Amino acid sequence: MDNVLQKVSRRKIEEALESLSAGFGAALLVLDSGGKVLMGAATDCRDRAAFISSARRSGKEVYSEPLNFKERRIGTLEVCLGPGTGNGVAPGIARSLESFLGLEREIEDLSSEVIRIYEELSLIQKISGRLGNEMDVERICRLMLEEADKILSVRTLFVMLLDADRDELYTRFAIGSDGELMLGFRVPKTEGLIGHVFLQGEPVTVCDIAADGRFQLPYPAKSVLCIPLIADTKPVGMLIATDKLSGEEFWSQELQLMGIFAAEVSSALQKANLYEEINTLFLSTVEALATAIDAKDPYTYGHSRRVAELSVAIGNQLGMPKDRVRKLELASLLHDIGKIGTPESILRKPGMLKPDEYEKIKEHPAKGAEILLMITELREIVTWIRHHHEWYDGKGYPDSIAAEDIPLEARILAVADSYDAMTSDRPYRKGMPSDTVLKIMEQFASSQFDPAILNVFERCLQQGIVV
Ligand SMILES: [Fe+2]
Repeated sequence: MDNVLQKVSRRKIEEALESLSAGFGAALLVLDSGGKVLMGAATDCRDRAAFISSARRSGKEVYSEPLNFKERRIGTLEVCLGPGTGNGVAPGIARSLESFLGLEREIEDLSSEVIRIYEELSLIQKISGRLGNEMDVERICRLMLEEADKILSVRTLFVMLLDADRDELYTRFAIGSDGELMLGFRVPKTEGLIGHVFLQGEPVTVCDIAADGRFQLPYPAKSVLCIPLIADTKPVGMLIATDKLSGEEFWSQELQLMGIFAAEVSSALQKANLYEEINTLFLSTVEALATAIDAKDPYTYGHSRRVAELSVAIGNQLGMPKDRVRKLELASLLHDIGKIGTPESILRKPGMLKPDEYEKIKEHPAKGAEILLMITELREIVTWIRHHHEWYDGKGYPDSIAAEDIPLEARILAVADSYDAMTSDRPYRKGMPSDTVLKIMEQFASSQFDPAILNVFERCLQQGIVV
């Protein structure tokens, strides 16, 4: 009975035997292909010899019928009937039992298929829900590995993405006991097993990496599962798992599930990559704009970029989220955009400014905010730029707001902007050394600058995060 017994429940087979036994008035005994008694009906015998001798004692005969399933012998049915009646009836009972087993097996297979489809759909729904509109490649990779680990439960899992410039696959994210060793791992996109899976777009499992010889890893691993990440028919990377914690091989169902999973994640990765490209393009446009602003005054060349670097360092030190730091960088690059409207004769004036000229300069934060208000993507940073010349004690411009009323990002900008202005050469003076500038700025802590931000900035300088 072997396979059929494993798949069809014993209780169901016993019920079928009971009804056949009652219907035909026969005692029945089922033996497996090795002759071992598995179950019976209308008999207490659990031994073939006892079944036969008990039948003979009651003047009956035992008919032996082979049981087949899909043309394979799976066991024997012993049928105990009155003399002369068994020749036609016993084969009929055996065929009925075979049909019943076939039907039940089909039902079991269908149930497993339904469960499998249900699991796949749940997985897709779960991943789609968690991915949402996620646009950060790092977070997508982390989520992919966490979910994949729940399905596979392996020693190490990593994501390799395509580096199109170098025609290589590189580890973008890794988890597990050997995860750290995988960071920095690179392979040509056409080489070995990874290259094969990447180019063929078909998942592969290898039970014995050493014997296979096509896969070199920076750590010892026995088995591997490689799933290509394909977006819009183009391969974009690979999900790789090594060694199940249970020590088992990777199953084909797991391979199938991971394939569905990888398809979901691939499209999210593609969206995120596109978003990253647009962002890079946007940032380079902003950089070009910042260079144009700085070019109005040759003495401030590179000022916006330097302020951006200082602000980003402060933002990171404060633990600001990545998105916010990115916006702070944009704001820093554009903080003086309002100077577009300031006459160059004032900006380039080598000596001290007259009061009316200084008033003209003071217009640039409000003008900058006005210009940026027109760009929807930059709306959030408008107030940061408007207030980057406010003082912590409320004596700045344009709105004379104070302390926490000044947006945090504007307070960061104020520190970074002043530090770079004082350390850079100006038409009327040389740039001052960092120590001197810090001493001056400390005198203005709580009046011009937020003392907490100034503190964080000094820490960035001490730690060499900025120079
Ligand atoms: Fe400014």
